[in-house]
Amino acid sequence: MVSPLKVGVAGLGTVGAAVLRLIADQRETLAARCGRRIEVVAVTARSRRKDRGVDLRKMRWVADPVALARDPQIDVFVELIGGEGDPARAAVTAALKSGKPVVTANKALLARHGVALAGLAEKHGAALNFEAAVCGAVPVVKTLREALAGNSIARIYGILNGTCNYMLTRMEREKLSFEDCLKEAQRLGYAEADPSFDIEGHDTAQKLAILASLTFGTKVDPDAIYVEGISSITTADLEAADELGYRIKLLGVAVKTDQGIEQRVHPTMVRKDSQIAQVMGVTNAVTVDADGIAPITLVGPGAGGLATASSVVSDIADIARGLRMSPFGRPSALLTVSKKAPMQRHEGGYYIRLLAVDKPGTAATIAKRLAQQDISLESIVQRHAKDGSGPAPKNGSVPVILITYATSEDAVRKALAAVGRDRVISGRPQVIRIEKN
Ligand SMILES: NC(=O)c1ccc[n+]([C@@H]2O[C@H](COP(=O)([O-])OP(=O)(O)OC[C@H]3O[C@@H](n4cnc5c(N)ncnc54)[C@H](OP(=O)(O)O)[C@@H]3O)[C@@H](O)[C@H]2O)c1
Repeated sequence: MVSPLKVGVAGLGTVGAAVLRLIADQRETLAARCGRRIEVVAVTARSRRKDRGVDLRKMRWVADPVALARDPQIDVFVELIGGEGDPARAAVTAALKSGKPVVTANKALLARHGVALAGLAEKHGAALNFEAAVCGAVPVVKTLREALAGNSIARIYGILNGTCNYMLTRMEREKLSFEDCLKEAQRLGYAEADPSFDIEGHDTAQKLAILASLTFGTKVDPDAIYVEGISSITTADLEAADELGYRIKLLGVAVKTDQGIEQRVHPTMVRKDSQIAQVMGVTNAVTVDADGIAPITLVGPGAGGLATASSVVSDIADIARGLRMSPFGRPSALLTVSKKAPMQRHEGGYYIRLLAVDKPGTAATIAKRLAQQDISLESIVQRHAKDGSGPAPKNGSVPVILITYATSEDAVRKALAAVGRDRVISGRPQVIRIEKN
């Protein structure tokens, strides 16, 4: 008879409590699938008194997460406290140093210290599993680390932040302004009181850094990612995108280029008929372009107690089965340095929304400046009140929407700077990159 896998859980909040519930509910199924029982034997959190809606009576309470991590009575340490610093970092480090496998959902810790922790895990022969750190229940880590181990991947991109996708969905459907939508999202609990980490793209960047490492063997480094959030997106952009056959999504993209691996997070126009464009609300999705096969898109719940617990428990089950993989899919010594993508060299199509001054010669001047940078246009839409299809000109200016064929960011920026100097536009142009899909 194989002995049960004894689990210590640090953190009993949204995810930790759901993990305890799931392990209890799936006791028999897990035992059958893993060939041994999984038992949570010890736990820790800040407050011992809090009612968490789970029965802790058969579990030992350990006051300190680091002490729990080192506890010789547990076989695996599960870190669900969160945060890139201590006690999460100290506890995970202590567990790995004692050769104990670790399961964590902590993207912040992995994004900042993932390479060092992977090195420690390898040195001490311990597993470091983190399926729950990216896209909740969506098994993207396993897909990259295991299922696609034999494929060469050219690009990975995804909707990695539910809050942003929820906001863009409601803005598009209900024509809500960014500010009104944010207030609604906060009222309903889909956005934090301080939403900047989500809406400015940093949460997406942390997850992208992990995915890029698994995909391309780069060192996890969120500082190597170009990041732009969604706060500049207006209903005018979403409406124009819709008319032109696109949707706007906050994407994290990592792609192989001649200059190396380009990692970027920004609002992106995607074709309305693409798989990623169908992903609405808080749902997450990741598309992988691998050689020789059609793109694979994984879609599912990216957050929430049970969704995240599903991935945590699957990682624990792997340990119960005796599986151990290099955390980032290859020995950490082979991970290459991530360089920040020079966005001026980014190539692709662009959406540009300008307020063109309503006077003779404006269109010719804009066309000339674009031509000087070799930019060709796929479409031009002038939204004029006179044809009844658009808003009235503002202060003698008319909204003009341009969609370019593939060009470089440098060319677009130079053309727009010249148009600005020519004084044929008012205000700052809106520029949104188009992702081919
Ligand atoms: N929530 C999600 O949907 C989700 C999705 C994906 C990944 N994650 C990740 O999962 C992890 C946990 O998230 P969560 O939403 O469950 O967080 P949470 O609800 O805030 O729970 C955090 C838990 O950690 C405990 N804790 C905090 N500081 C501690 C300390 N110094 N010593 C001991 N325990 C401490 C808290 O104790 P008390 O309860 O006593 O205060 C609480 O039980 C994070 O890394 C998060 O990024 C969460």
